[in-house]
Amino acid sequence: MTVETILRPYDEEAIADAAERILAGECVAIPTETVYGLAADATNGEAVARIYEAKGRPSFNPLIVHVNDFGEAAEIAEFDCVAEILAEEFWPGPLTLVLPQSPDSPIANIVTAGLSTIAIRMPAFQPMRELIAASGRPLAAPSANASGKISPSRAEHVMATLYGKIGLVIDAGGTVHGLESTIVAVEADHLRLLRPGPIDRTQIEAVTGLELRDANDGKIEAPGQLESHYAPTKPLRLDAIDAEEGEFHIGFGDIPGDASLSPDADLVQAAALLFDALHHAEADEDCDAIAVAPIPNEGLGAAINDRLRRAAHD
Ligand code: TXA
Ligand code: MG
Repeated sequence: MTVETILRPYDEEAIADAAERILAGECVAIPTETVYGLAADATNGEAVARIYEAKGRPSFNPLIVHVNDFGEAAEIAEFDCVAEILAEEFWPGPLTLVLPQSPDSPIANIVTAGLSTIAIRMPAFQPMRELIAASGRPLAAPSANASGKISPSRAEHVMATLYGKIGLVIDAGGTVHGLESTIVAVEADHLRLLRPGPIDRTQIEAVTGLELRDANDGKIEAPGQLESHYAPTKPLRLDAIDAEEGEFHIGFGDIPGDASLSPDADLVQAAALLFDALHHAEADEDCDAIAVAPIPNEGLGAAINDRLRRAAHD
């Protein structure tokens, strides 16, 4: 699918245009202080699915949610006192915190790819802050590059790989840091550095007085902590035209199942509902297994199938 891509300089009208598109479920490229992000309404699953479609990403990774103030963040994630200290010290700025998601968080399941934790940050750069304010939504935003390409620090870099894939790129020149935010997971009694970035590890250790461990240092984890992929506990069967006894059948297109990802065979809708459907099937006490109808392996279907295959093997 090719769309007309408009490149416009950052000003008030550009932000108003971007906010209108965000509320209509589009994704738009906008700079933060780290890199240009491809932003969509984090409460709208189909809008977030379009990020994956535009990037041509062959798999679902959890995305970072961007907010403007601490009150908004606290509606989405649970802050313990260490997380509060980090937010107080480094926000707004290039630090992303991975925290437990609030039970009544408004964020669509596709944003966290089904995980119970959520990555959240408060950006410092004015264009992104104005877009969050103008749209009145938390924004999910990965780097604004096609899958497999390097992160963009200028609007031209975005145009080089996403031209024809997204409707709007806002140009506010080169970004301040030019690399992605530092990501820290806040756990029971320690911190974990999931991605190094502009905020240095020594700064984080200094303000918290806690050890900052590396992402995979082999230490024993409490169950359920730091899962990198959501996987249902029930066995999962793919390409299921019919369900067997005891299976919850997730349908698609002509196959209705017990619940359908998309009766119209719309892959954007299916991607948006995938993790909801898996959680739903998982919670159904009458079923001890999950079967999923065939999904075509094109466009977003490749990412959906990748996720289902992992869930089937985990
Ligand atoms: O600077 C940045 O952080 C940029 C700008 C646009 O804000 N965004 C960015 O997003 O780099 P992205 O999607 O390219 O990187 C998100 C990273 C991924 O490596 C993902 O695995 C990790 O965050 N992540 C997100 N949620 C997570 C979670 N619940 N647990 C562990 N890792 C998570
Ligand atoms: Mg990236």
